[in-house]
Parts: sequence; C-alpha cells; structure tokens
Amino acid sequence: MSVKNILDKRRSVRHYDPSYKISQEILVSLIESASKSPNGNNIQATRYLVIDDPNLRDLLLPIAFNQHQVAEASTLIVMLGDYQAFDKDNIIKIHEEGFQAGFFNESLRDHLANAAISYYANKSAEELKLELTRDVSLASMSLILLANEAGFETITMSGYDSKQLKATLNISERYLDVLLIAIGKGTTAGHKTVRHDVNKVLYKNKIL
Ligand SMILES: Cc1cc2nc3c(=O)[nH]c(=O)nc-3n(C[C@H](O)[C@H](O)[C@H](O)COP(=O)(O)O)c2cc1C
Repeated sequence: MSVKNILDKRRSVRHYDPSYKISQEILVSLIESASKSPNGNNIQATRYLVIDDPNLRDLLLPIAFNQHQVAEASTLIVMLGDYQAFDKDNIIKIHEEGFQAGFFNESLRDHLANAAISYYANKSAEELKLELTRDVSLASMSLILLANEAGFETITMSGYDSKQLKATLNISERYLDVLLIAIGKGTTAGHKTVRHDVNKVLYKNKIL
C-alpha cells in the first residue's frame, strides 16, 4: 500500500483483540525501520519502551484515564527522548561510526560532530525538550505508518498522567516521555474524522 493510501485509510482505533500477539520479530522490524526516520544531527535520541507485562499494563490503565486500549492492544510503546543523546561522547561516537562505515571522510566526520556539539551547547532546557519532541514525533509517525502497512491498527495517546506513568515504570529524568502508541488488531473500526480543506491549512510566504 502506498503512503498516500495508508494516510487515507488509517484511523485511530480504540478497541483491540486482547488475545492477538504481535511477534517479537515483527515488532523489532517495525522499530528498526522507524529508527531510520530523520532526526536532528543524527544523535538518535528516540527510545521505544515496549510494555508487554500485563501487570504493568493494568497499572497504566487508570494512569491513562482508563483508555482500555492501553491494556487490550497487542503492543504498548512509550515513546521517549533520551537527554543523554545530547552528550558530546554520544555525538562523537555516532560520527565515528559513520566514518568507520565509510560514509564520510575524517574532515566531514569532525565537521558534522563539531557542528552538532555546538548546536546543542547553549540550548535551554525548553529548547532541548523541543528537540527531543521533534525527533520522537517523527519516529512515532514512521512507526504508525509502518504498523498500518503491516496490517495492524494503531492509536497515539497523550491522554495519561506523565508523572504517574514515569513513577510506575521507573523512568528517570534522563528521559522525556512524548507519547504512547498502541498497536494491534482492531475489533472496531476507528470513527471517520474530518480534516480542514487544504486551503485553510496551506499558506504561501506569510501567515496572518
Ligand atoms: C499527540 C496525540 C495525542 C493523542 N491522544 C489521544 C488519546 O489520549 N486518546 C485518544 O483516544 N486519542 C488520542 N489521539 C488520537 C486523536 O484523537 C486522533 O488522531 C484525531 O482525533 C484524528 O483522528 P484519526 O487519527 O482517526 O484520523 C491522539 C493523537 C495525537 C496525535
């Protein structure tokens, strides 16, 4: 199916077959492909925390305001950004790997690494949070498209208490939780949704 077809057909699905299991192999392959999404300076900050323990799922249910897809879907993924990805060591290591793989020469390796290090050096906490949100959001959309292409349904969720979720899953301040993605076999189609006419959202050169 083309990306356009997936986008035309995809709906947020809120009811899942709890007995359906996605194999580890398929899940790993979806995440592996999603991780090829564009990301700032290729620092690769996105982390995918898969929650497959039914007891944890039950604990998350009230934290996600009893949205039952949290417990019912085959897979629940907490999409996280890792603040340690901004560390100089990570940036140097990633660019060294690119050099070792023969993707660029020493001079480009050093140029790219130094540019990335100075890009993040003076950013405020708010700006770094935005950087992580951008990267994790792009990877999330890729994962949603890939999961739909593979024949699953999905829903994105920000309807949960972030503090409680982090406490329950022991997620430290090293990570920013951006959203949840549930993936599985839907039992009820997602309701259709409207979108603005393209003329309402498309602007040229200025926006009022
Ligand atoms: C960031 C984000 C957070 C969302 N959070 C929730 C949520 O907590 N619960 C829910 O039922 N839907 C949630 N949704 C789904 C939206 O309601 C849905 O995408 C929108 O209504 C359009 O419907 P569609 O996805 O079926 O086209 C979320 C979507 C996004 C992008």
